[in-house]
Amino acid sequence: MYTRSGAYPPGIKTSLESDSHKWILKNFSSLNSNLKLEYKSLTKEDIPEIRNLHKEWFPVSYSENFFEEIGGSLSSVAAVINPKDYGDYSTNHSVICGSILFKITDQKNPKFHNTCYISTFGVVEALRGKGIAKELILECKRVCRSYSVTQMSLNVITYNTQAIKFYEKIGFTKSRTKSNHYLIEGETFDAFEYVYFLRRQSNISFFVKSFLPKYIKSIFNA
Ligand SMILES: CC(C)(COP(=O)(O)OP(=O)(O)OC[C@H]1O[C@@H](n2cnc3c(N)ncnc32)[C@H](O)[C@@H]1OP(=O)(O)O)[C@@H](O)C(=O)NCCC(=O)NCCS
Repeated sequence: MYTRSGAYPPGIKTSLESDSHKWILKNFSSLNSNLKLEYKSLTKEDIPEIRNLHKEWFPVSYSENFFEEIGGSLSSVAAVINPKDYGDYSTNHSVICGSILFKITDQKNPKFHNTCYISTFGVVEALRGKGIAKELILECKRVCRSYSVTQMSLNVITYNTQAIKFYEKIGFTKSRTKSNHYLIEGETFDAFEYVYFLRRQSNISFFVKSFLPKYIKSIFNA
């Protein structure tokens, strides 16, 4: 069985590597009529599966060190299915449908703005076009806001029109072209850098949103 990803050079199909993807294909008709997803951070236990999904999605091979950073300097959000919701009690593992891995700078000095770099981002082919990627980006933005991030960025290989259309649709803008950014099977490819600016919350609006509701509640509970 094969799968496709726009990140691979055109025309290339890759073999199905991930148990999550196999489970999704096996249960596709139930999922199609009732897709129940949860969003969570990845843990060390998810590394073998996320490594296999990365082989399906990306022609670049990521080192073990990269995956070991998950939960440390590499933040993550994954869209997952609980097989028990579909009557499958044979496994305790959640089925990963998509993931976004990103790094946020942690400037201690509030004068400096934090930034977020999206390292990898993908959705299992069988579940594309259902808004999962859009939701993953929203979850990532939520994390970014809690770290006062003002700019998100990512690189996309120039032939990946699938991803480019998606990023432009959700408001990312192309900022520059990086020549020979990727090396795939001995051939170099350019990348587009895309950016998204998040509005910095003023101190007053941060106070109103974060503390005022709790403050008001505590007055009424007093
Ligand atoms: C890019 C990718 C993550 C998009 O995932 P997805 O779950 O299919 O995207 P969504 O369903 O959330 O789409 C959100 C919006 O973008 C649009 N969109 C998504 N893919 C599109 C495409 N190929 N062409 C045009 N629009 C597209 C959708 O129509 C949708 O718009 P709507 O909200 O108006 O309906 C997915 O195609 C993927 O995993 N590709 C392989 C890995 C990859 O290339 N990753 C990016 C590396 S930089």
